Amino acid sequence: MATPTRQGGSGNGGSGVRASKAGPVRVALLGSGGSIGRQAVDVLARHPDAFRVVALATGSQSQILEEQARLLKPAVVSLADGRAASRLDLPPGTEVVGGPDALEAIATRSDVDLVVVATSGLVALRSVLAALEAGKVVATANKETLVAGGHLVMPLVRRLAAGAAGATGDEHHPLASPLGWLRPIDSEHSAIWQCLVGEKDAAVERLLLTASGGPFLDASVADLATVTPEQALRHPTWTMGAKITIDSATLTNKGLEIIEARWLYDVPLSAISVVIHPQSVVHSAVQFVDGSVKAQLGTPDMRLPIQYALTYPDRMPSPAAAVDLIAAGRLEFRAPDEGRFPALRIAREAGEAGPLASTALISADEVAVARFLSGTLDFNGIPRLLGAAVERFGQGEPAEPTLDQLVAIDADVHRFAEAYR
Ligand SMILES: NC(=O)c1ccc[n+]([C@@H]2O[C@H](COP(=O)([O-])OP(=O)(O)OC[C@H]3O[C@@H](n4cnc5c(N)ncnc54)[C@H](OP(=O)(O)O)[C@@H]3O)[C@@H](O)[C@H]2O)c1
Repeated sequence: MATPTRQGGSGNGGSGVRASKAGPVRVALLGSGGSIGRQAVDVLARHPDAFRVVALATGSQSQILEEQARLLKPAVVSLADGRAASRLDLPPGTEVVGGPDALEAIATRSDVDLVVVATSGLVALRSVLAALEAGKVVATANKETLVAGGHLVMPLVRRLAAGAAGATGDEHHPLASPLGWLRPIDSEHSAIWQCLVGEKDAAVERLLLTASGGPFLDASVADLATVTPEQALRHPTWTMGAKITIDSATLTNKGLEIIEARWLYDVPLSAISVVIHPQSVVHSAVQFVDGSVKAQLGTPDMRLPIQYALTYPDRMPSPAAAVDLIAAGRLEFRAPDEGRFPALRIAREAGEAGPLASTALISADEVAVARFLSGTLDFNGIPRLLGAAVERFGQGEPAEPTLDQLVAIDADVHRFAEAYR
């Protein structure tokens, strides 16, 4: 268990990122054009005194990148689509970097303090490892990095925290905790993080991950077989990217979050429960040994957990509205149904089996969701494909694959999932 310590801060987030230097925290944002990336830009632009955006990287959305560059005036931008990169219309003096190592180059720049990871899939895993090796704080929305590479990421994070504790001589310094270095943006993991502040590891009994249950909470297995992409993309409470919205409808997302929580908080999977909570007001909770349960509540607005990860251990005014408990009215909680939503069970079993199985899960899911959206796989086919991939690739050695081995497995699983009938 890795609980954060209780502490004060500087009021601008700087004390939580660096042991000494004053001034704005210098940020690199990977995946700036996506759903989380655009919300991170919104948060960063509202606090120019606290944050200076040094670098922005996205995949293909050149127009959004140009707008963001005009707004934030970064020193450098990157577009994975190399041909479009050469045609970018940027403020004078903006450097453009490209090529397969662009994300890593950006994440390890000497003028970057904190890297926000808002990319999808495994594309940023190498950059996250490199950024941590270079002593950068990483705030991540991306869960795939931990689901596949938790065994590579967490030892680095623990080493950085131990180093900061030794260097500052202050066990309460924000960077003396692993969560000071690897900061979750996922709303559930941010909620757990916020509940853990000031608590001792030994006091924690169970993590309670809430899930809205998605748009098909009460649908039968027969109904689920005929679900269309349009129906599945209509999430009842959150507005998110297409991939995570489908993952929420199958509950695969919650399964991935269980594995993410296992790494982030260093708890066994058996100490993590999923609670269906259709209103998405309670973002998650922690149960303590004395029977007390602490929860974090909020409106479904990702800008709040994004900002908390940037300003920790401080809080600042945010664009997210505070939750109105009276307007929220009734809050419901119930157990998940793994019979109708088998992805949750498959993910938990993959997490128990280890990184090979977890990597097979996320790689297969990337293809399964794309195939569902393009009409070559039905909704119930998604968990069937996930189960087949985990069974096929999740066994055997190595128990702790290297980064290159993970990349190779990812490619193998993609081929398997494309061909799956
Ligand atoms: N959306 C949410 O509310 C939410 C909530 C919690 C957690 N998350 C997690 O956050 C991550 C991002 O989710 P999202 O919904 O924001 O996804 P998204 O909208 O699909 O955005 C993904 C971003 O990654 C960029 N990208 C892809 N390949 C790249 C490459 N090679 N180099 C640079 N950038 C690249 C994309 O660029 P282009 O678009 O320019 O091609 C896009 O900006 C996922 O792991 C998701 O599970 C999301």
